[in-house]
Amino acid sequence: MYSKSWLIFLNFVVGLFNFGFAGDPFVYYDWTVSYITASPLGVKQQVIAIDGHFPGPLLEATTNWNVVVNVKNDLDEPVLLTWNGIQHRKNSWQDGVLGTNCPIPAGWNWTYQFQVKDQIGSFSYFPSTNFQRAAGGYGGIIVNNRDVIAVPFGTPDGDISLVIGDWFVKSHKDLRKDIENGVNLGSPDGVLINGLGPYRYDSTIVPDGITYQVINVEPGKTYRFRVHNVGISTSLNFRIQNHNMLLVETEGSYTVQQNYTNMDIHVGQSFSFLVTMDQGGSNDYYIVASPRFENSTKASGVAILHYSNSQGPASGPLPDLPNESDSSFSMNQARSIRMNVSAGAARPNPQGSFKYGEITVTDVYVLQNRPPELINGKRRTTLNGISFFVPSTPLKLAQQFNVLGIFKLDFPNRPMNRPPVIDTSVINGTYKGFIEIILQNNDTTVQSYHLDGYAFFVVGMDYGVWTENSRSVYNKWDGVARSTTQVFPGSWTAILVYLDNAGLWNLRAQNLDSWYLGQEVYLNVVNPENNELPLPENAIYCGVLSSLQKDQAQRVRFSGAPSVPMVITRVLIALIITFVVTFMR
Ligand SMILES: *[C@@H]1O[C@H](CO)[C@@H](O)[C@H](O)[C@H]1NC(C)=O
Ligand SMILES: *[C@@H]1O[C@H](CO)[C@@H](O)[C@H](O)[C@H]1NC(C)=O
Ligand SMILES: *[C@@H]1O[C@H](CO)[C@@H](O)[C@H](O)[C@H]1NC(C)=O
Ligand SMILES: *[C@@H]1O[C@H](CO)[C@@H](O)[C@H](O)[C@H]1NC(C)=O
Ligand SMILES: *[C@@H]1O[C@H](CO)[C@@H](O)[C@H](O)[C@H]1NC(C)=O
Ligand SMILES: *[C@@H]1O[C@H](CO)[C@@H](O)[C@H](O)[C@H]1NC(C)=O
Ligand SMILES: *[C@@H]1O[C@H](CO)[C@@H](O)[C@H](O)[C@H]1NC(C)=O
Repeated sequence: MYSKSWLIFLNFVVGLFNFGFAGDPFVYYDWTVSYITASPLGVKQQVIAIDGHFPGPLLEATTNWNVVVNVKNDLDEPVLLTWNGIQHRKNSWQDGVLGTNCPIPAGWNWTYQFQVKDQIGSFSYFPSTNFQRAAGGYGGIIVNNRDVIAVPFGTPDGDISLVIGDWFVKSHKDLRKDIENGVNLGSPDGVLINGLGPYRYDSTIVPDGITYQVINVEPGKTYRFRVHNVGISTSLNFRIQNHNMLLVETEGSYTVQQNYTNMDIHVGQSFSFLVTMDQGGSNDYYIVASPRFENSTKASGVAILHYSNSQGPASGPLPDLPNESDSSFSMNQARSIRMNVSAGAARPNPQGSFKYGEITVTDVYVLQNRPPELINGKRRTTLNGISFFVPSTPLKLAQQFNVLGIFKLDFPNRPMNRPPVIDTSVINGTYKGFIEIILQNNDTTVQSYHLDGYAFFVVGMDYGVWTENSRSVYNKWDGVARSTTQVFPGSWTAILVYLDNAGLWNLRAQNLDSWYLGQEVYLNVVNPENNELPLPENAIYCGVLSSLQKDQAQRVRFSGAPSVPMVITRVLIALIITFVVTFMR
């Protein structure tokens, strides 16, 4: 599914064109978002493809490269792609959420341009509006380290991306209607691995004729598996039959390397494991992603690990889920994931030199969710009793043009003892402040939360209600820095964030049903010296600013994309360089 060769070729061509031209190299992607028909679970349905692929292609770049993605919207409704875990330093204009960007209308295109500065690792992208993630439109992101930065493990023999996620046979339009009408999602119809349904491991459970993913490997070799949960609302337990998974990285942090036989991967999270093909290959093996906390493996996603010398199919029951009634297993596993503080990071200084545990916290926010409830007759979800209302004018645009009354910087720092409201209330962050956020889950299911623009330190999680005393159990030394964390039901998770990235940043429930019903807030971080990147020339206008919008056809060419004469010039220069180099040998 993810062939790297064309990417390498593309990178080569791009590298050739840009070497020495614009400082950091550029990589270009031209993507059309459209519907295609697929039957991942044996039932024909409309799914969202990128360039005809479901899931979408891998987006690959190296630290500090500039990424240009021209997105053409061939759907019948507006679209926005967001880059989960990409920090967009000083550039929330490229974040692709409704608080920062007008959605790209059907039939239009919009070119994102952002730099993947000072970060490495495994991330993902997905459509952020209209419940579209339920229909696909997602894929993996790899940010490679520059050669000067050492990686704390040997170069693997291959790099395999797996996007896993719960899947429903209903369309995203029907699902969002259900959600609005108070119908819960319920258990998923299945779990997809790279857009494909399960291998028929049990003929009473899996119907015949389903196409499944096969991962081809060589005996004795070690592969890096990057696994992303891009699903809408289900925590998944991931495992590979008979194989240890050595955890090495998660969302941009190199971890202490430990073997796991399975890993709970919550919605929006990404992990890298090194897996050695040490089982001789007498047969194939199952690669499994099962819904967690459902007491059922029936909906499991199952792919096949195929050794080149394999003598037969995978067989037997699927490897076991962890004990489903032992709720502490998952929390203990999460606590066991720690940062390797002596490994290099995207910047040449060791991550350990930034001692987050010694920094004074400037602001504390306790954000408490609740199960969906009726507010003014509408089914909504809240954080601190506020259900986020998405105005038709993006908050960031309103801020840029000094349009008042779109949002308020008055988000409460504790749960409020008052009836819930629907409002556009934003957290006013302090630039270069150190903020402690406690996510308190009062719902009955696991929730994940994601913060755009940052990696945060996950310093603690525990059962019950957080109190000041809970700080005594914080990990102040090697908590992992990531952008998505789970919060178990009836439990809390504490994160610390250094607010050095100016912009307006989305903090959301990654579970799509909770997010869709209002469980999100923005974090406003203003540098008094205003060092944010300017509003992009190609910005789309909407809401009260829609009169600023020019017709698409007359739009000024976006400066980041190469014009035709520019490309010709670059080709000529490249040819001349090639000629000179060849001649001078
Ligand atoms: C749409 O794509 C064209 C190239 O196909 C590009 O020149 C133009 O800038 C894009 N529009 C926007 C708003 O980014
Ligand atoms: C941490 O990273 C260092 C530096 O690359 C490496 O030598 C060490 O083995 C790693 N430690 C663990 C426990 O993963
Ligand atoms: C992980 O498991 C593999 C066997 O699959 C073993 O060779 C390796 O030493 C283990 N590594 C650690 C850090 O436990
Ligand atoms: C799963 O089963 C256990 C024990 O039978 C039960 O305690 C638990 O509530 C069940 N969980 C779900 C999500 O049904
Ligand atoms: C699963 O966990 C529960 C609760 O901790 C325990 O009572 C039960 O014996 C465990 N089951 C197995 C098969 O280990
Ligand atoms: C928001 O924070 C900034 C800087 O920390 C401060 O100058 C401003 O007054 C605050 N705004 C509100 C409405 O509190
Ligand atoms: C939610 O909050 C209520 C009131 O504080 C409490 O009684 C209940 O146990 C909480 N539920 C969960 C799952 O945290």
